[in-house]
Formats: sequence, C-alpha cells, structure tokens
Amino acid sequence: MSRDDTSTVQQSETDQLISTDPGRGGLAEQDAQQAAGGTRTVIESRNLDVFYGETQALDDVSIQIPANRVTAMIGPSGCGKSTFLRCINRMNDLIDVARIEGELYFEGKNVYDDDVDPVALRRRIGMVFQHPNPFPKSIYDNVAYGLRIQDKTDDIDETVEQALRDAALWDEVADRLDESALDLSGGQQQRLCIARAIAVDPDVVLMDEPASALDPIATSQIEDLIDELAADYTVVIVTHNMQQAARISDKTAVFLTGGELVEFDDTDKIFENPEHQRVEDYITGKFG
Ligand SMILES: Nc1ncnc2c1ncn2[C@@H]1O[C@H](COP(=O)(O)OP(=O)(O)O)[C@@H](O)[C@H]1O
Ligand SMILES: [Mg+2]
Repeated sequence: MSRDDTSTVQQSETDQLISTDPGRGGLAEQDAQQAAGGTRTVIESRNLDVFYGETQALDDVSIQIPANRVTAMIGPSGCGKSTFLRCINRMNDLIDVARIEGELYFEGKNVYDDDVDPVALRRRIGMVFQHPNPFPKSIYDNVAYGLRIQDKTDDIDETVEQALRDAALWDEVADRLDESALDLSGGQQQRLCIARAIAVDPDVVLMDEPASALDPIATSQIEDLIDELAADYTVVIVTHNMQQAARISDKTAVFLTGGELVEFDDTDKIFENPEHQRVEDYITGKFG
C-alpha cells in the first residue's frame, strides 16, 4: 500500500494540546525524513522497558511508527503486545504495579515527561479494545459522548453521522440512533466503538485485537474498515492472527517471548523473507 502523507499535525500544536512545555527535539530529523521521501514518524519508543512488579514485560524496545499507515504488532501470548500499546497513550498509568523506563515519543514529545496531561494525550490517541465496550446508552449518545465532554457540540449531529459513516455503520443504524447500543450485534458494537473513538478526531487509533471476539463476517468488515481508517489516522493494531496482520498492515512488528521486539519491517518483508530465523519459525508456525 502506498499513500500520500496527509497528516497535518505539527509538533507545536501537539505540545500545546498535551503539555504546557514548549516543544523540543525530533523536528529536524523529521524534516530530513520527509525530504528524503520517507514517511513521517508519529510514535517512537527508545529503549523502552516495562515491568509489572518483578516481571519484565518489555525489554529494550525501540521502534518508529509511521503516520497514516497500519502497523501491526504480532507475537505469542504474553510477549508484551498489549503492554506496548498501552504505553503509547499511558493507559499503563492505570496499573499500579507497572513501571516504565526509557522513552516514548508522540510527535516528538516524550509522553512520560512530567508536563504531559494523560487525559489530553488520550484525546489525541484513541483506543479500541478486544471486547466491544459501548456505554449502556443510545447509539447516538455513545458517539456523541466524547464530543460533549470536550464541548465540541457545534454541528454535533453532523459529526456523529460522519463518524458512523467513517466506521461503516451508518447505513445499519441511521433509523435507530435512539436505540440502545447494547442491542447491536458484536460486530456492530465494535464498529460503534470505532466511531466513538474517531468522532473526537484523534491522530492515532490503537486497537488491541479488535476482531478476535467477532465472527468471520464481522471480522472482515472490521478489516476493511481498518484499511480505510489509515487514510486519516495512524493505526496501530495488536493481533495474534498472522493472516490478519498480513492482510491489513503496512508494517509489522514481531515481539517474541520476554518482551523483545525481534523484527520490525514492511509487512511483505516480514512474511516473505524475515531477517531472523526466530521470526520465520514463528510465522511458519514452528513455535508460539
Ligand atoms: N496488569 C498486569 N499486572 C501484572 N502483570 C501483567 C499485567 N498485564 C500484563 N502482565 C504481564 O506482562 C506480560 C505481557 O503481557 P501482555 O502485554 O498482556 O502480552 P500480550 O498482549 O502480548 O499477550 C505477561 O507476562 C503478563 O502476564
Ligand atoms: Mg494482549
């Protein structure tokens, strides 16, 4: 897949939104990358370690995640995929025993700096979970929820409709927006959660196994949707389904036991000709 880099968020804007400190670092490097025809990096970890008490879940993970692409994280259960995802928007803050070392940059700003507001950060970096978790409210109110919290209520009907259209759900719910979200099918609920996440216009959408609780038809609808989302958002998706990663992602990161990022490259390269024997063994099903 190749797309124009349409992202327009600048670091100064990001800093204003997530922190009180003026921006620093990263921009010259980014300009050089763009001038060289490369893709802009939106999220970067440097030597990231995560511990839960005594257990090390991530070991020295360094990665650069490009804008407006789908990046998949794959690897066996327990290798730290969800942990990495949660580091990006500081959801690990909510886990008492979690401890983080190293750096995690969003638009050139270390999200673990003292002046970063995690709530503001999460407005820029939305998240969709494995099990659809709509609020026990109407379909409309689910999508409008974040807009109301953020006081973005001008043209709210239009914004809700657009989010539902972008989540490929509008045609199925347009005539029953007032009905409970809990009456939707699992696949519809998950698309509703995606609509809720994108309604507030984030830069990044994180998805942790978003289709693994769904049937094959619903899964395929979510996969089509993810592909379309990358036109407007940077998407990072955890999946344990390697075929899914191969189908929907531009880049693939392979984590293996011990929380090590063993290989990160174009998805075609990872699946056709990986550098590491351990990655090839994992992909061909020899272990994991
Ligand atoms: N809240 C937590 N408390 C303690 N240990 C955790 C917690 N979450 C994850 N872990 C441990 O961290 C490691 C990585 O877990 P996780 O990131 O969930 O892996 P994955 O998503 O790849 O299956 C595992 O050993 C897991 O048991
Ligand atoms: Mg997980």
